[in-house]
Amino acid sequence: MRVVVAGGTGFIGTHLCTELDQRGHDVVALSRDPSGAGLPDGVVTKAGDVTDRDSLEGPVADADAVVNLVALSPLFKPDGGDEMHDRIHRQGTEHLVAVAEEAGVDRFVQMSALGADPDGATHYIRAKGRAEGAVRDSDLEHVIVRPSVVFGDGGEFVHFTKRLKEIFAPGVPVYPLPGGGRNRFQPIWVGDLVPMLADSVAQAEHGGETYELGGPDVLSLRDIAEKVFESEGRSISVVPLPMGLAKVGLTVLGSVGFPMGRDQYRSLQFDNVVSDNDVGAFGVAEADLKTFDEYLGLTAAGDGADATATA
Ligand SMILES: NC(=O)c1ccc[n+]([C@@H]2O[C@H](COP(=O)([O-])OP(=O)(O)OC[C@H]3O[C@@H](n4cnc5c(N)ncnc54)[C@H](OP(=O)(O)O)[C@@H]3O)[C@@H](O)[C@H]2O)c1
Repeated sequence: MRVVVAGGTGFIGTHLCTELDQRGHDVVALSRDPSGAGLPDGVVTKAGDVTDRDSLEGPVADADAVVNLVALSPLFKPDGGDEMHDRIHRQGTEHLVAVAEEAGVDRFVQMSALGADPDGATHYIRAKGRAEGAVRDSDLEHVIVRPSVVFGDGGEFVHFTKRLKEIFAPGVPVYPLPGGGRNRFQPIWVGDLVPMLADSVAQAEHGGETYELGGPDVLSLRDIAEKVFESEGRSISVVPLPMGLAKVGLTVLGSVGFPMGRDQYRSLQFDNVVSDNDVGAFGVAEADLKTFDEYLGLTAAGDGADATATA
């Protein structure tokens, strides 16, 4: 199949393009600036911007499948403000869907996020919900994938956790987190997620499905922070970050080039766990997935595990 991966130069995109290339597909990675993405030689790169519909027509024209991985991170306030989530996630998806419909593609895979909801609490979650609506309302045979947070080499989550502490509470063994970090995540390793995405592209039985995908463990943000620092031989105490101090903190973070706002603070307070883990739809048991501990090198890694924590 000829597969166009929009956002194919990003964290999940580079892993997915590599997997699709290894499976023998003709892969095109599309992004605004795809140069130097470190993709396999067999992957063709093309420039396109989802905010500019015309720029997508050429790259998508002869595609059999399109995967939409274009993203603005929920962890940082975007350049241009939180409204950019609507522009990139909702309108960008509408453009990609329209161009894919015109091209007559056989399969559209939409990367969404857990909790996607057109009436949700943050700009990111609302835009993700509206983007799902655009895909469902289209004539395209589609698969919608909603993962919890994804970890792995090249990802931003582990790095974000370390950086937040460095800026917020440098040099002390205390880590202030919203709500004491009680909200829960179900982190999934990129190496486990990507084969499921590749199956979603090519296997007929996934057409029309929406999948919630999470890893083997439910961990609070506090657990995650403690594990990240433990993997570096450091011990920290997580303490609740009062709202008043958080407001001051958000201003401080913004002033040192770590753009967080109210939306990003909120997104760190919601649970991000699956209601039903759909990994079984891909013939995978939850127990076979890589744990966060294995990735960080805190327990023995399973077969083929890469215990280097560089995310
Ligand atoms: N990482 C996670 O933990 C996680 C969790 C749940 C869901 N997701 C979802 O998974 C998908 C991929 O996430 P990721 O972490 O791989 O993101 P990422 O590393 O930030 O990659 C984003 C990609 O989108 C491209 N892009 C950004 N703006 C664009 C535009 N206007 N037009 C075309 N391309 C554009 C970027 O390349 P250029 O900058 O060159 O344009 C890059 O290739 C997203 O839908 C994200 O919401 C991620």
